[in-house]
Amino acid sequence: MNKTLIEPHGGKLVDCYLYGKEGEIALENAHSLPRLILSDRNLADLECIVTGVYSPLDGFVGEQEYHTIVKDMRLSSGLAWSIPVTLQIPESIADNYKLDNEIALSHSNGEILAVMIITSKFKPDQDFEAEKIYLTSEDSHPGVQALRAEGKVYLGGSIKLVNSIPHKEFLDYRLTPKTTRYQFQKRQWNTIAAFQTRNPIHRAHEYITKIALEIIDGLFINPLVGTTKSDDIPASVRMQCYEVLMSKYYPQNRVLLGVFPAAMRYAGPREAIMHAIARQNYGCTHFIVGRDHAGVGSYYGTYDAQYIFSEFTSEELRITPLNFEHAFYCTRTQSMATAKTSPSNSEERIHLSGTKVREMLKNGKTPPPEFSRPEVAEILVKHMSEAKA
Ligand code: ADX
Repeated sequence: MNKTLIEPHGGKLVDCYLYGKEGEIALENAHSLPRLILSDRNLADLECIVTGVYSPLDGFVGEQEYHTIVKDMRLSSGLAWSIPVTLQIPESIADNYKLDNEIALSHSNGEILAVMIITSKFKPDQDFEAEKIYLTSEDSHPGVQALRAEGKVYLGGSIKLVNSIPHKEFLDYRLTPKTTRYQFQKRQWNTIAAFQTRNPIHRAHEYITKIALEIIDGLFINPLVGTTKSDDIPASVRMQCYEVLMSKYYPQNRVLLGVFPAAMRYAGPREAIMHAIARQNYGCTHFIVGRDHAGVGSYYGTYDAQYIFSEFTSEELRITPLNFEHAFYCTRTQSMATAKTSPSNSEERIHLSGTKVREMLKNGKTPPPEFSRPEVAEILVKHMSEAKA
């Protein structure tokens, strides 16, 4: 076996499962508790909490942690944490959930999944939260919209999972930090770069991940599969694209594909930090940050998600960012490039973004090979024609 892997954030991988008889009894008892149905976003966060993806969090944040996160981007221990992971409910039902009481958290299908003791109940200033986390309180920002939609009253407390989370999709790719850490050890990778994406992998993504592969031992392709905004390509379609790329365009023994269950926040720089922490928990030593990471519209500067890493010491955040400039296809050198490597002028640079490709697809156009591998383009065109039908 190789050297010890990077420590989880805070030193210990959180595991909120109640196993065996203890879990069975807790599940049985949970039927008499007040029940709270989790939203899709809560469910995604629950999965990240209980499997240790959000270590050291062992539940939804309480008031004290909420404020230090929102104001200082840190937990009260001083560790980096940039977005509060909250359980929010509408005011109209808030009286049903009392401080110090145990509640059952359930899936929308009615199955009880977890129990939580409410150790904190509070009603923060959501405009302040939005301005700090998203740098805007405009409702047109999808993250701000989701924040408001989740409800005004926040419940905090640690969680115990008493049942398995039912999943219909990506079963082979739901790797927990325990599994990825085992896989990395088995493959004898000492340095691992994680790649977050909410899009089909296009040529610029491929370019930056392959540069990473030149300098590290292994690549963890970790697409986000929680809720995204409605015009993003659905995760089920994206998975087909990742699979075809993995089998044909990446060296399979140097890449691992696993899904990241979280919902997308579109919080740009703050979300880049959260994404990096999660990937450290998976066991990755490096985290790829390109142009406008986790951005939306023009809310964030192109490289703000890279600059924010300099606000943390290596004690506060261990994982190392791998920063990449805006990559494009250069017609002069006939290859992918960035301003760092290409002598081309602006007419010789084909910049294609996820947004542009979605527009092309909507207009019935096939993304060109400078943008996308043909097999990926084919999957996307097929998806668009099925969606229209
Ligand atoms: S994100 O919301 O998950 O960040 P996306 O899937 O588009 O969106 O990007 C995944 C990663 O690739 C991010 O780190 C992003 O900054 C980077 N990236 C996307 N497009 C480019 C590009 N043209 N050049 C360099 N980096 C890029």
